[in-house]
Amino acid sequence: MFQKDLLKDKRILITGGGTGLGKASAKRFLDLGATVYICGRREDVLKATERELSEFGGNRIHALVCDVRDAAAVEALIAHIWEEGALDILMNNAAGNFLARTEDLSLGAFQSVIGIVLMGTLHMTLACGRRWLSEKHKAVVLNITTTYTSTGSAYVVPSAVSKAGVQALTRSLAVEWGDRGIRMNAIAPGPIKTEGAFSRLLPRPELEEAAKKKIPLGRFGTMEEFADLAAFLVSDGSGYINGEVVTMDGGEWLQGAGEFTALGRELTEQEWVMMKPKGKRS
Ligand code: HXC
Ligand code: NAP
Repeated sequence: MFQKDLLKDKRILITGGGTGLGKASAKRFLDLGATVYICGRREDVLKATERELSEFGGNRIHALVCDVRDAAAVEALIAHIWEEGALDILMNNAAGNFLARTEDLSLGAFQSVIGIVLMGTLHMTLACGRRWLSEKHKAVVLNITTTYTSTGSAYVVPSAVSKAGVQALTRSLAVEWGDRGIRMNAIAPGPIKTEGAFSRLLPRPELEEAAKKKIPLGRFGTMEEFADLAAFLVSDGSGYINGEVVTMDGGEWLQGAGEFTALGRELTEQEWVMMKPKGKRS
C-alpha cells in the first residue's frame, strides 16, 4: 500500500505501544523505515514487544517505561529521547477504560481514566510541543480517540469525557501550532478486537455478534487497517490534513444515528410492499 521507505528517518513515539493498536502501529512504522519508541507502565510487556518487533526493525525499536499520568516522568522520558535527537512524530495512543454504571464510580475511577487519556495526552503533547516550537522542528501528532467523542456514551463516561477533551485539544492545537509546522490529527476507531479493549468492554463473548450487527460492514476493523491509516496520517503524504478526526468504524456510528435504520430492518417483505404506492404493490 505504501512506498517501502515512507517513514525512513522519522523518529516516532507511541504511548501504549506495547500492546494492541499501538503495537500494530509500531510494527507498521518499523516496516516503513521509522525508528520507533514505545512506552507504557509494564516493563515485561514492553520488553517482550521490543524483542518481537526487533525482528522487523532491528535496533530501531526502543521500549521505555513511563506512566503518562505522571508529568515529571513524561518530561524525563522526552528529555531522554531528545538526547539522541528530536522526535518527528508523537502518537498519543495510551488509554484506560472500563464498562461501569456512572453512579457506582469512585472519584479515583474518574481520575484514573482522565489521568491516562486526557492528562497523559496533554503531558506528552506539551513536553514534545514546547521542544518542537523552540527548535522550529516540523512535527506531527496523531491522537487516538473513539467514535463516541461527539455523542458521548453511556457506561463509559470517564472515557467519553476524556476522549472528547482530546478531540478538542487536537482541533485547538492544529490551529494554534499549525502555522509553526506542527500538524495534529486524530483517528476515531470503532471496535477493533484487542485484548485490552474487549476484555474490559465486552464481558460475554456472545455479545460480539450483537456488536457486529451494529456495523454496516458486518465485522470489526482490523489492527492492520488501523495501522495503515495511522501510517498515512503521520506521513508527509498527508501533509495538508490538519485538525481532522478520521472515523474508521465501518459506518457504525452513522447506522446508530440514522432515524429510520433500525425501523427499516424490522419491516417484513410484505410491509415493504405495502409502503409502495397502490398500483405498484407487486
Ligand atoms: C469501576 C473501577 C474499575 C471498574 C478500576 N476501577 N476498574 N471502577 N469499574 N471496572 C477504579 C478502582 O476502584 C480505582 O478507584 C481506580 O479505578 C483506579 O483503579 P486501579 O486498578 O488502581 O488503576 P490502574 O491499575 O492504574 O488501572 C487503570 C485502569 C485499567 C484504567 C482501571 O483498566 C487499565 O490499566 N487500563 C489500561 C488498558 C485499557 O483500559 N485498555 C482499553 C482501551 S479501549 P479507587 O477509588 O478505588 O482508587 C478504549 C476505547 C474502546 O479506550 C472503544 C471501543 C469501541
Ligand atoms: P490496549 O491494548 O489496552 O492499549 C492501551 C495501552 O495503553 C496499553 O499498552 C497500556 O500499557 C497503555 N497504558 C495504559 N495506561 C497507561 C499509562 N498510565 N501510561 C502509559 N501507558 C499506559 O487497547 P487498544 O485497544 O490497543 O487501544 C489503543 C487505543 O485505541 C486507545 O487509545 C483506545 O482508547 C483506542 N480505541 C480502541 C478501540 C478498540 O476497539 N480496540 C476502539 C476505539 C478506540 P500498560 O498497561 O503497560 O501501561
